[in-house]
Amino acid sequence: MLAVAACVSAPEAVAPIDRDSLRELRWVAPGADAVAALTTRPVACAAKDAAGKESRSELDWQRERGRLAFESPALLGGAAARMGLSCASCHLNGRGNVNFFVEGVSGAPGTADVTSSLFSKVRGNGTFDPVPIPDLAARDGTQIRDRKSAAFREKVRGLIVEEFDGQPPPPDVFEAVLVYLDSLDVAHCADPSARTALEPFDDYGAAFSAMTAMVTQKGRPDAVLFYSRAARERLERLHERFAGRGDVPAQLEALSASLAQAATARDGGMPTVAIAEFSALAVALLNEAPKSLYTPEVLRAALEKQPPR
Ligand code: HEC
Repeated sequence: MLAVAACVSAPEAVAPIDRDSLRELRWVAPGADAVAALTTRPVACAAKDAAGKESRSELDWQRERGRLAFESPALLGGAAARMGLSCASCHLNGRGNVNFFVEGVSGAPGTADVTSSLFSKVRGNGTFDPVPIPDLAARDGTQIRDRKSAAFREKVRGLIVEEFDGQPPPPDVFEAVLVYLDSLDVAHCADPSARTALEPFDDYGAAFSAMTAMVTQKGRPDAVLFYSRAARERLERLHERFAGRGDVPAQLEALSASLAQAATARDGGMPTVAIAEFSALAVALLNEAPKSLYTPEVLRAALEKQPPR
């Protein structure tokens, strides 16, 4: 009886997490403050939608689609994509990532060998030569400053297809990534060194934007498929951090299935059911967010149950 009473009054049990249940842990440097690394990121210094406008312009949407692709493993191939890496794993919010570390790819935390044979069949040079991950909004060092130039276009194509073994992306995706990269500039930030908290609605909003992209790309099956993968991967991130929290996981699974179905449907249209599911999900996320792994204290408790590696 006593034991039961103790159980009832104890704080909600937090299940331990590991690199399989929370993929981002795979590239957090040992010894780094994992809670800070997983719940905050450098502030984004991208151009913002012009204030006061009724709706986004096509250029705003294109930049948003580019950001989604940049943040999605769907843009990469090979070992990088299998690990769950995206461009943004190294360039968080288009900036750097001082905590990035992958065995065999990184030297000191925050560095990467982009000519590593792990990631590239073509560019692997057999030499371990990691360099600091640059802040793409700073455009400093050896970076190509003119992002509308043919040289920059070729550089980005090479990064995707050669350095990270990706498939040539659908044309809409590639153009959007270039627009996003060209929007990155520290001049857009009042304090470029600031960090922002990661919120569940960052991933939710990205999933919703990606679904919108599926609708606007209707008639281009390769682009629709790409954005459906981007959307579903953001739902997976929510799933990892809301595991065991109410009926959020079941809602995420149902929504992901709806998006998969919509991506292969002949008309490419979005079922109204997906829109309704998104609305219901927002309510559930709000309710469960304090207990999710987006909340630093909850994440800390879960990490403490993890055996040190
Ligand atoms: C494993 C970490 C990592 C990933 C993933 C990554 N980068 Fe980088 N990126 C780097 C490093 C390190 C450099 C600096 C070395 C270099 O320029 O080759 C760099 C440089 C760059 C530059 C500057 C190039 C220039 O000369 O102007 C751009 C642009 C860039 N990355 C975009 C991307 C895009 C787009 C992706 C996804 C397709 C991506 N990065 C994925 C680590 C990464």
